[in-house]
Amino acid sequence: MTPLWSLFFLIVASHAAEVCYDELGCFDDFPPWGGTPQRPAPALPWTPAAIGTRFLLFTPKNRYYQEIKPDESMEASNYSGRRKTRFVIPGYLVKGDEDWPQTMCKAVVQRENVNCIAVEWKNGARTRYAQAANNARVVAAQVASMITFLMGHYNQNAGHFHIIGHSVGAHAAGEVGTRIPGLARISGLDPAEPYFQGTDASVRLDPGDAALVDVIHTDGRPFQSKLGLGVTEPVGHIDFYPNGGEQMPGCSSNHGRPSDLDAIWEGTSRFDACNHARAYQYYTESIGKPQAFMGYPCSDMESFAAGGCFPCTGGRCPLMGHRADSFSLMDGLSKTKFFLNTGKSEPFGRYSFKATVLLTGSRWPNLGYMFVAFAGKKDRTKEFQLHVGSLVPGRKYEVLVDSELDAGEVTEVRFRWNNHIINPLSPKYGAMHVDLLRGKDHQVFLFCGTEKVAENEIQSVLPCPV
Ligand SMILES: *[C@@H]1O[C@H](CO)[C@@H](O)[C@H](O)[C@H]1NC(C)=O
Repeated sequence: MTPLWSLFFLIVASHAAEVCYDELGCFDDFPPWGGTPQRPAPALPWTPAAIGTRFLLFTPKNRYYQEIKPDESMEASNYSGRRKTRFVIPGYLVKGDEDWPQTMCKAVVQRENVNCIAVEWKNGARTRYAQAANNARVVAAQVASMITFLMGHYNQNAGHFHIIGHSVGAHAAGEVGTRIPGLARISGLDPAEPYFQGTDASVRLDPGDAALVDVIHTDGRPFQSKLGLGVTEPVGHIDFYPNGGEQMPGCSSNHGRPSDLDAIWEGTSRFDACNHARAYQYYTESIGKPQAFMGYPCSDMESFAAGGCFPCTGGRCPLMGHRADSFSLMDGLSKTKFFLNTGKSEPFGRYSFKATVLLTGSRWPNLGYMFVAFAGKKDRTKEFQLHVGSLVPGRKYEVLVDSELDAGEVTEVRFRWNNHIINPLSPKYGAMHVDLLRGKDHQVFLFCGTEKVAENEIQSVLPCPV
């Protein structure tokens, strides 16, 4: 602690107190909410008026969102108690992408007959970090009070509600779960690390906050050294670590110092929260493409990358994102981490399969490279490197592939090879058989080659005749 910082801490600590906001109740800055090693600068939440929380309702009937309030004016809205209800609570906002909760709600009501409520609290989030983290407690109390109103007015129970929260908003979702026991589900999208990791479970998101707590980790590097904004440790029943959970493809690594955090929040320091933002981007995409985000149970990213946890066995692979609730929580699976790979830009979702190629061709020893690409009716993937080294006819070569296409949609495998060094004998090689083993269900798709090709020519390998 710098001397200035400790002085500040002393002054604030000596004013430790409590504020009360009508029906929302009282908020104090005593431990565990403030004055602990994890929360050095205590802060009392602002008034609801200063935070300015708004509830924006989307339903399949809505052409535009409707702002709703927990009173008689609800009657005039398109809210229906016969539908389930999802809330989306943002946290840290990336400049230029402040409306992602609305985008998410629109995607949800396009496909499901639910009420989706985007919670807006920009004014309360754009301030010192410690203040924003505490303002989120008022937002949580407001969401809880909205749910209490809806339960009373529309005869719904807690099991009809699902809260999706990002960053600080993920912990606010946890606080809603503390206030309303029995919520169906909380989806924590890269729950914030500073002021939450290592705190009492009552302060942060934990598995006790809803019947199902599913979590996506995308910025899990330590905050102190690498400015990772998300928690690293599992905090739900099902924790997903896409791409290992720390550094997302297509994002540059975080830079800056932890002391920059307040400036980031106030928007005076440019900070690329790309890794942190990926969590809600993946979730939003998963609404329309749930199967492209299957998580494989694995001890760590290294074993996963080495193919040690492929294919999925015994239906033990949940879908990351919106359809995580189609997975039934089984004994022994809590504390398991789930891994998957994504692309570096939209579409992020990938389908994993293993391609096994039986090689045919020249008997002369030859060193070279082999590649495969996959084509469907509409799309074609990039080339994946199958092998570098000696090309031995009769041998099988394997590669694990994360493809934009599902193995079941592949209509053509494109094989190519080339030499390390110029070979005057002009050999030819070909893929005699290609088997695609689909990761999600072990299903195998067979392709049969009928020719050999010279260096850098493409061999088209089609499904075997049945
Ligand atoms: C509410 O639903 C009705 C159809 O029942 C629709 O005509 C109206 O546009 C909806 N309201 C909004 C604000 O979209």
